[in-house]
Order: sequence, then C-alpha cells, then structure tokens
Amino acid sequence: MQQRYEKYTEEDLKIWNLLFRRQEENLQNKASQSYLDALEQMKPVLNAYEIPNFDKINKWFQKETGWQIECVPGLIPVEDFFELLAKKRFCSSTWLRSMENLDYLEEPDMFHDIFGHVPLLCNPIFSDFMEAFGKLGVAMKDDAERVIQLQRLYWFTIEFGLINEVSTKIYGAGIASSFGETNLSLGKTVEVAPFDLKIILNQSFETDHVQNLYFQIDSYEQLFEAIVSLEKEWKEIKLVSN
Ligand SMILES: [Fe+2]
Repeated sequence: MQQRYEKYTEEDLKIWNLLFRRQEENLQNKASQSYLDALEQMKPVLNAYEIPNFDKINKWFQKETGWQIECVPGLIPVEDFFELLAKKRFCSSTWLRSMENLDYLEEPDMFHDIFGHVPLLCNPIFSDFMEAFGKLGVAMKDDAERVIQLQRLYWFTIEFGLINEVSTKIYGAGIASSFGETNLSLGKTVEVAPFDLKIILNQSFETDHVQNLYFQIDSYEQLFEAIVSLEKEWKEIKLVSN
C-alpha cells in the first residue's frame, strides 16, 4: 500500500497544522526530553506546515535510524504487526481525523501514528526495545496467552508509558498524540505505578476510554532490559516443557 499524497486536501492540511501546533506546545515540559529532542531533530521532514510525506520521512529515517514507515489500511493482524516491527518497520495509517473529531478517535489515524510514535524511534535504546519486542512477538505468535501479554506490555509502555525524568514525563504515543490525555496523565486523578513487568503482563486494559492507571519507567534501558529478560524466561520455560 502507498500513501497517495496528492489526495490530501487543504482541509486536511488545516487539521494537521492545528493538531501539530496545539500538541507541540502542550507537550513542552510534559513529554520526555528524548521525544522533544527528536521532534526538533525531525523538523525538516515532520512539522506543522506539511502533511507528513512518508517517502521523505523514510529517506531521512534510513540515514538516521534504520526505521521505515509502512503504510497500512488500518489495524492489521497482530502477527503481521510483530513481523514488521522485527524488521524495523513501523505501521502507519494514511488517513487523518476530521475537524469535528479532533479529540476522539476509534482507530489510530496518521496524527497518532506519526506524531505520537515516530519521534521516539530516534532514541537508539527505545528503538532497540521496539525491534526486540517485534522479534519476541514473532517467536511467540502461536502462543495466544503470550501474545496477549505482549499486547499488555505494548499498551502500558509504547502506547501509554510514563518515564521518570526528575518529574514524571510522557513517552507513550497514545498520550503524546492526545491533547486531553497529556494533561490527564500528569494530573492528580490517575494512579501512576512503578514499571513492573510481572504486574503489567497480568494487567488487562480497556481501549474505549482514557486510562486511570499508568506505569512509569526509570529509563529506556529498563524497557530494553525487561524485554531481554522476558525473552530469556520464556525460552527457558519452552525448553523445560519440551
Ligand atoms: Fe499507537
């Protein structure tokens, strides 16, 4: 599937510009420094004044990170998603929300996928974590329980993760791409628990409303170490049971 850039309208650009400027300002002092630095660094290919052109981003990415954006029609089967991550390909939809639905989405659009997810791929440790996550997913794709556990890990880190950088900051894409949740997640009405792999693997989540429980990591290294230890543990269990 290809991004059909010529299909975007003036209205789409207006929406993109509004979303980008509003959220970039909102995230100052609230997002992880690594995310904010990457957003700055990516300005030549990711900014408020043009709808992101995946070819342009991919050329930049190829040089800087080895990641590529893969166009998808919407949500795809989880095993395909794992496979793409394992090859350092991040899925993005190409459609954009409407002006009437600036703050409510049933499915991720391009603003969520690109603005929310892509900048942090510039962080080498987070990038290694994402790739290792994909590889573990590929290895476990026939084990339904493990797949669910990986989806929980994805949800509470890549989508809705917080990080301790002197104070609590945002790195999850679901928060970073949402005006309302950015403020809510750092407010007093939600519970923020320290990152705990065992708890997360057993923590179910609901996708139809904003979160009231978040997990906070101390560093991106902690995420990477978690996936390495999980891989080791699951491989050992497999060896014992075979
Ligand atoms: Fe997402």
